[in-house]
Amino acid sequence: MTHRIAMSRRDIFTAMAALGVGSLGPATLGTRPAWAQDSGGEPERGLGEIARNAGRFYGCAVQASYLAKEPDFADAVVREAGVLVPEWELKWGAVEPQRGHFNFAPAEAILAFAEQNGMTMRGHTLVWHRNIPAWAKSALEAQDRSLMGIHIKQVMNHFPTVQDWDVVNEVLDPGSTRPDKLRDSPFLTALGPRYIAQAFRYARGVAPQARLVYNDYGVEYELPTHKTKRDAMLRLLESLKREGAPIDAVGIQSHLVTRSGVTFDPASYSAFLKEIAGFGLKIIITELDVQDTDLPADDSMRDRVLADAIQRYVEAALAEPAVAGILTWGLSDRHTWIDTDPTARRSDGLPSRSLPLDADLQRKPIWHALAEAF
Ligand code: G3I
Repeated sequence: MTHRIAMSRRDIFTAMAALGVGSLGPATLGTRPAWAQDSGGEPERGLGEIARNAGRFYGCAVQASYLAKEPDFADAVVREAGVLVPEWELKWGAVEPQRGHFNFAPAEAILAFAEQNGMTMRGHTLVWHRNIPAWAKSALEAQDRSLMGIHIKQVMNHFPTVQDWDVVNEVLDPGSTRPDKLRDSPFLTALGPRYIAQAFRYARGVAPQARLVYNDYGVEYELPTHKTKRDAMLRLLESLKREGAPIDAVGIQSHLVTRSGVTFDPASYSAFLKEIAGFGLKIIITELDVQDTDLPADDSMRDRVLADAIQRYVEAALAEPAVAGILTWGLSDRHTWIDTDPTARRSDGLPSRSLPLDADLQRKPIWHALAEAF
């Protein structure tokens, strides 16, 4: 049974007021955005519609503040996306910075925006070794065995219309000394290796119909660490299925790189996807973007190389019927984590060009590569 959050205009204003910003762009409050005005021309087909027509979905990560403060960006999101995922607003550090003090308003604002514009929202992420608020980290490390379940239930119960959750995120570490390569984390300390299956059981208890996802990165290329992680992931999935853990899908983050010496092998990657699908699982490309740390500083050449990398990867992914959809980690080069992360951004400081739209929201070769691949 799904409950609909009847977010009235008033609720949206309340949620936005909680952000300390004005109303969302015209795309949000029921008026048709500029690009869709009935000027006689057809609204351009966005990636969301192109993907839907091909039996998949396309979406992107967003932050509530961008939607609230940039009507042009909000309009582009409505034009292009079918699914939204909060880049930050549903993480533990964002929703419960102090024990028992919740801040769901930013995530509610993204959900309201999505539902007002005929989109759905994914939940990201419930159990992750990063962004655990200090109070929770100490409790987990003191082996509080109830806290993880309480957190999962509290967040999922607050968003009953969200039916697609990254239940656990980045739980494998190829550098781990453990045979199972489980990443060292406060959750492992508190609950032991069975915390992953347990997290899925708590999530299923709250949302019987939701798609429950294990999300991870670092399996995309023919690199030793990626091969180690692919093997560990397949062993983890095998053990979860053997235990009857209610997992429905695997999210492959797909933060691509164009670094020399990093090879993408479509056949090897497709075989890996097929093994995941063999467990009866769906696959989602959850955080697609591409870092070009070492390409010469020429925009049109960078755009061509990046679009080619995206196209080769996405065509191999979409060749696997179990792949349900693709989300990029951002929509426009105006907002990307890559430019804020010293390990990802270009050494020459040039802004990244990793997403479908440029900073002025114009479609780039990456947009066309995705449209063609769908
Ligand atoms: O800390 C402020 C907070 O006080 C404020 O309320 C909030 C308002 O937006 O901003 C917060 O700033 C930063 C936040 O991004 C929003 O920009 C946080 O300090 C910063 O840690 C956070 O970084 C995010 C990072 O995950 C850690 O959560 C990035 O935006 C986000 O792109 C990145 O995404 C991760 C995925 O979740 C998992 N896969 C890898 C991916 C890239 O690292």
